Amino acid sequence: MKTIISPSILSADFANLERDIKLVERNGADWIHVDVMDGHFVPNITIGIPVTAALKRVASVSLDVHLMIENPEKYAQDFIKAGADVLTFHYEAMQNDEEVFKLIRLIKAHGVKAGLSIKPKTAPEKVLPFLAEVDLLLVMTVEPGFGGQKFIPECAQKIKVIRKNAPSTLIVQVDGGINAETGRVCRDFGANSLVAGNYIYKSADIKSAIESLRS
Ligand code: DX5
Ligand code: ZN
Repeated sequence: MKTIISPSILSADFANLERDIKLVERNGADWIHVDVMDGHFVPNITIGIPVTAALKRVASVSLDVHLMIENPEKYAQDFIKAGADVLTFHYEAMQNDEEVFKLIRLIKAHGVKAGLSIKPKTAPEKVLPFLAEVDLLLVMTVEPGFGGQKFIPECAQKIKVIRKNAPSTLIVQVDGGINAETGRVCRDFGANSLVAGNYIYKSADIKSAIESLRS
């Protein structure tokens, strides 16, 4: 399976989001990663529902929406309506396993890919029960909340546990501190989708940066 590259627009120029989406699209981006933060689940506030809907109007590739919010079940339908093609929520934001299953099923019932994410301190074993149902498992390689942080190598080890226990169709994604070098480590462990913000958007040559994440 080809590696899915998902540039994070958290590192784009927020006054020029359309321009910056097109910039990565014409240089090989497969998806656009949209980081939604609520100031509760993480200590930062970023993009919400109306901005996601506006991004949908200008993006030609899939919107990969990463919810870093409490009560994701309350807002999932709104993000689906706004145009999320992939909708990922955090395991740590849920009350119990039953609620996780319910939300995965609700997202998939709308024809949207369902993603589940774990923070650095969450053991991969916690999400094994969901691997047969979820479309994507996002292993965070930094504490969620901010772009431009340093990759935590121990987190990448979790990819192996996930991959070993997952159906071959599962997309295993990593997010946080990804560059050519850390991206390769994650791909070697079995990740097949890389999110990168600073590495792509702060690069002088966007095309080479995206290509370097694949090779
Ligand atoms: C962090 C976000 C990431 C962030 C990655 O909480 O989930 O998607 O934009 O940024 P970089 O690639 O710069 O670490
Ligand atoms: Zn993200």
